Amino acid sequence: MVIKLWDGFVRGFHWLLVVVLAGLWYTGGNLDYLEFNGNIIEFIDVHHKLGLIMLALIITRILWGIFGSSPARFSQFLRGPKAVWGYLKSPFSKEHLTHNPGGGLIVVLMLVLLLAQAISGLFTDDAIFFRGPLANTVNNDVVRALTSYHKQAFDFILILIALHIVAIFVYLVMRKNFIGPMITGKKTITNSNITPPKQLHGGYGFILLSLNLFWIFWWLG
Ligand code: HEM
Ligand code: HEM
Repeated sequence: MVIKLWDGFVRGFHWLLVVVLAGLWYTGGNLDYLEFNGNIIEFIDVHHKLGLIMLALIITRILWGIFGSSPARFSQFLRGPKAVWGYLKSPFSKEHLTHNPGGGLIVVLMLVLLLAQAISGLFTDDAIFFRGPLANTVNNDVVRALTSYHKQAFDFILILIALHIVAIFVYLVMRKNFIGPMITGKKTITNSNITPPKQLHGGYGFILLSLNLFWIFWWLG
């Protein structure tokens, strides 16, 4: 039976996240610049704007995880230590409709660390020519600590992403394709007794994302 699993917002969010993160990785701590029609575009300014887009994406995904479509809700895939342990002992035994308990944990950790990364970015100072938009609201010790956190915590994010991608390819080799549903939204399930999950139109998620982009850029842009 084919069911609709991921709504348009979750899919759009995921692939936007990948593109924005690649841009942040490339531009973070990069002193280079581009010349465009005689205008100088500093990479750190691009990093700042991409960081704000990332902040809006994560805040919107958190709200969608509370109020959005059923498979996207944290209540559907954030499980306790017992369920995670059970999953780790036999990761291929059960079919899960949304993220499995291990994947769900990694997803939530990624969202939390990305949120902390974006927020700490607002308080950074590279001691050359960039000061984050909220750096003046706290004292210099806090700015130094958050700048150092911002530089170091990214390694944990990379480790989680590596785990995430390796897990997805291991499942692919085991003939469980998670990538298809994250592109088309549709998943084929073997258990035909499952009731298709409740969906909200992804457009609402994009409206919410636009509102979040608006206030974030107005305040911190
Ligand atoms: C920058 C790199 C990446 C990040 C930060 C990332 C992050 C995430 C997050 C946060 C989710 C949860 C989606 C949600 O519930 O809203 C997710 C799910 C997923 N991601 Fe990624 N991802 C990355 C790269 C990739 C790549 C390269 C692939 C494919 C090759 C991929 C395939 C998937 C799939 C298939 C799922 C759904 C897993 C499931 O069905 O449980 N991701 N990813
Ligand atoms: C989730 C969003 C973000 C990610 C993933 C990210 C990632 C990174 C990375 C990988 C670096 C390079 C670290 C190094 O040199 O070892 C960096 C540096 C930096 N980021 Fe971000 N960043 C984000 C958001 C922001 C935001 C919103 C701002 C400011 C408004 C910002 C400001 C900076 C600054 C100033 C540096 C240079 C620090 C220094 O070299 O002293 N970042 N970021």
